[in-house]
Amino acid sequence: MPVVKEESHTAFDNEFLTNVGDQGRILEMLTRTSAYIAEFFKESERPVPAAGESQMKHFFQDIKQEHAFDSVLEEVMEHIMKRSLNISHPHAMAHLHCPPLLSGVCADVIVSALNQSMDSWDQSPAATAVEIEVVNWLCELYQLPQAAAGTFTTGGTQSNFMGLLLARDQYCARKLSHDVKADGLPSEAARFKIFCSEEAHFTVKKSAVQLGLGERAVIGVPADEHKKMSTEKLEAFIQEAREAGDHPIAIVATAGTTNFGSIDPLEDIYHTADKENLWMHVDAAFGGALALCSDHTAKLEGIENADSLAVDFHKLFYQPVSCGAFLVRSRDSFRFIRHGAEYLNPEDDREQGFTNLVDYSMQTTRRFDALKLLMTIRTVGTKKWSEMIGHGLKQAGCLAEKINDEPALHLVMKPEMNAVVFKYDPEHSFAKAEEDEINREIQQQLYASGEAVIAKTKIDGRQFLKCTLLNPLTTEKDIDHVIEAVIEAGREIELLRRRKSVEF
Ligand SMILES: Cc1ncc(COP(=O)(O)O)c(C=O)c1O
Repeated sequence: MPVVKEESHTAFDNEFLTNVGDQGRILEMLTRTSAYIAEFFKESERPVPAAGESQMKHFFQDIKQEHAFDSVLEEVMEHIMKRSLNISHPHAMAHLHCPPLLSGVCADVIVSALNQSMDSWDQSPAATAVEIEVVNWLCELYQLPQAAAGTFTTGGTQSNFMGLLLARDQYCARKLSHDVKADGLPSEAARFKIFCSEEAHFTVKKSAVQLGLGERAVIGVPADEHKKMSTEKLEAFIQEAREAGDHPIAIVATAGTTNFGSIDPLEDIYHTADKENLWMHVDAAFGGALALCSDHTAKLEGIENADSLAVDFHKLFYQPVSCGAFLVRSRDSFRFIRHGAEYLNPEDDREQGFTNLVDYSMQTTRRFDALKLLMTIRTVGTKKWSEMIGHGLKQAGCLAEKINDEPALHLVMKPEMNAVVFKYDPEHSFAKAEEDEINREIQQQLYASGEAVIAKTKIDGRQFLKCTLLNPLTTEKDIDHVIEAVIEAGREIELLRRRKSVEF
């Protein structure tokens, strides 16, 4: 008996993706949406709308007013798309925020249309199998052992949290014979310590807070002149902590720091973690993509020893937000987050060989983000994908060289990945605070003019500028354009300040 019905059977048929109602409507709405997207990117000449247009305003007269789909699309185009950051523009080089690959965008449409939920296999039969397969590919990519497993996550924040949660609970189980899942934190938790570079992402501290350990549980180990964690100091800090009666539980190594893209010495950190019997979590949210590039994989040497690993695809893997993964050396570690519900992940499912991915995740309902990777692997291919990743690093090297050769700019250090930190050196002499303000204003002025989107950051209290070359479409001409725009803005701001100081 075919399930296809010939006529609409409720008043809502045309609002859903069904086999009843006006089938042409599905095609029409999705085609119209694609047409607007294509038009937006065709017309968009700047990474951000020029000043005034980018102001966040009251968008619609009356949000409850109904309109035909086409006029809603027009409104979305005028009021939202045209006032959005165009992250695919080659002059958008601020944050670890990438232009999405078309293959990933198309996958995202399918993910939304199918609306599978990854918590139980019966809500995502094929998707569960795909996620398992893609996670296996990732475990292989990072050379983790057979027992490794993982899950897709919303990104580095969630993955770092999961790594530290498993580290905490494993320490409690093994060293203190204490079951956190059953009994909450043991009294010793007040003295738990997590070691990471002072350059590590703030989510290490945020996770410690959420895990009930407090911010002070995180010990920031000084970084060397290349912004990499000093292993000598790491060992000294661990000894100090032990002597003080603290309980070191984990080391977080960063493979690609947010500010500088520096990669901690993973091999050395592993030796320390192994000697000290500590969990090693690698935050490779940014740098994990280098595993795909044969020219750069050596930078990740030692990653294969991680007890857990965070990697983001919505950064250097060019996938639409959100898309990340958390991998763990031993599948068994997921027992610390497993909770059973008879209606969702019953024991008998497992006995019958069905995998319910809720057993590996912090989330229950979860998107089928693995499809983005699968479709990119199969359409773009790993070779071209790795070239795109390498392109950003090459462009960063090119930008750094140009900054080095430019007397008006000062490069902080040669980048290891694709984050370039520098500052504008005023032609005339200004107090340090004023020099910082000039740099801050340069970043703001470029954004307001719609010329370029670059970032700002502080090092030892001083203001710096930062470009993250995370766009395979950025050319040397774009790099020259941004350098010129920075210098021009700097000169203008300087002049205005000098005029003002003469007037007063
Ligand atoms: C090194 C590092 N770890 C973690 C994160 C957090 O990742 P997400 O924003 O995907 O949660 C970031 C974000 O930039 C990062 O740079």
